[in-house]
Amino acid sequence: MGLKVGLIGCGGMGTTHNLSLKAISTEMDIEVVALADCRSEFLEKAAVQWPHARKYEYGMELIEQETLDLVHICLPSYLHAQHAIAAMRKGMHTFIEKPVCLTEQDCKELLRAKEETGRKVMIGQVVRSFAEYRYLKQIYDEKTYGALKSIMMQRVSGDAVWGFEDWFHDEKRSGSVVLDLHVHDLDFLRYMLGEPDSMDVRATEFEGGLVNQVVTQYEFGKVFAIVEGVWDVSPALPFEASFRACFEKGTVVFKGSQKPSVMVYLADGTSFAPELKEEYEKEDHSAGINISNLGPYYTEIKYFIDCLMHDKEPVIAPLEEGVKSVALARQELSLAKEYIQKMR
Ligand SMILES: NC(=O)c1ccc[n+]([C@@H]2O[C@H](COP(=O)([O-])OP(=O)(O)OC[C@H]3O[C@@H](n4cnc5c(N)ncnc54)[C@H](O)[C@@H]3O)[C@@H](O)[C@H]2O)c1
Repeated sequence: MGLKVGLIGCGGMGTTHNLSLKAISTEMDIEVVALADCRSEFLEKAAVQWPHARKYEYGMELIEQETLDLVHICLPSYLHAQHAIAAMRKGMHTFIEKPVCLTEQDCKELLRAKEETGRKVMIGQVVRSFAEYRYLKQIYDEKTYGALKSIMMQRVSGDAVWGFEDWFHDEKRSGSVVLDLHVHDLDFLRYMLGEPDSMDVRATEFEGGLVNQVVTQYEFGKVFAIVEGVWDVSPALPFEASFRACFEKGTVVFKGSQKPSVMVYLADGTSFAPELKEEYEKEDHSAGINISNLGPYYTEIKYFIDCLMHDKEPVIAPLEEGVKSVALARQELSLAKEYIQKMR
C-alpha cells in the first residue's frame, strides 16, 4: 500500500485539502485512511470521498490511535502546534495550514519537535504555489523586465464568519487579520525579497478591539512594498487578492477576479497576458469559504507528497519559513495595536 494519510479538521480548508488529496490519489499512490472533525456533519461530508476511512471526533484521538505516513492539520490556528508536535512524535510527517502557529513558544517547540523526530514538515503558505505569484518571483529572479522598484499588494476580504466557534474573531485563536490573512502576502514578500529592513504599520479595529485591517509599508533594500490585508469590507464585495509590481522596464498587474488574471504593461506602451497555467484546474465552491480555485492547493500538497516519496526535504514552504513569517506577522500585529492605541 502507498502513503497512508490522515486529515484533521474537515471545515473550510480541510475540505479544500480533502478534494486536493482525492485528485492527487488518481495519480499517486496515496489514500486518506483516517479523518477527524468534532462536528459530525463535516466529518461525514469529508468521508464521502473516502468511505473506508476511520473516523474520529478529535484530532488527538486520531493521532493516538493511528500509524500514518502523513497527517494534514487543518484545524483553527491556535490548535496547530499541539497537534503537529504530537503527530511528529508519533512518527508522522505533517502538513500544517498557515499560519503555522501563533506564539513564539509554539514556534520554538515545533522546531524542536522537528529536529528531534526528523519528520518532514510543510506549511500551507499557498501563495508560494499560485501560478501568478510563481510568475512574479520568476521574472524578479531573472530580471526579465529589469530590477523591481516597488510593489503594492492587497488581500481584501469580507469578515471571516464561517469559523468553528467563531475562532477567527478572537486574537488568541486566530492572531487577527494580520496572522490569518495578511500573513499570505508578507510570507510571499519574504520568499521573494528576504527580510525587510524596516516597516511602518497602520491599522483599524472591530468594535471589540480586534485588528481588522492592516496596511504595512516595508523597505527591502531599494525596493519598497505597500501591503494591505482587510477583513472589514461589505460581504457584497467579492474576495480579491491583487498586486502591481513596478519593474524598470514594465509593470505587472495581477487581479485575482479577472481573466486573464495577470497583464504585463511594457515601457514601450505594449501589453500582453503571459500564459500561466495551474497544474490542476478546478473550481469548487463546496468548502463554503473564500477559496474556490483548487489548483495551488493541489500543487503544494502534491509537491510535499513527492518530497516524502523521494525522501527530499521540502524547500518551498518548510517549517523554518513558516516560523519566520509568524515572527514578522507578530511584530506587525504589535505595531498595529500600538497604532490603534495611539489613535483612540
Ligand atoms: N491557505 C489558505 O488559503 C487558507 C484559507 C482559509 C483558512 N486557512 C487556514 O486553515 C485553518 C483552518 O481554517 P478553516 O477556515 O478551515 O476553519 P474552520 O473553522 O472552517 O475549520 C476548522 C475545523 O476544525 C474542526 N475542529 C476544531 N477543533 C477540533 C479538534 N480538536 N479536533 C477535530 N476537529 C476540530 C472544526 O469542527 C472545523 O470543522 C486555519 O489555520 C486557517 O488560517 C488557510
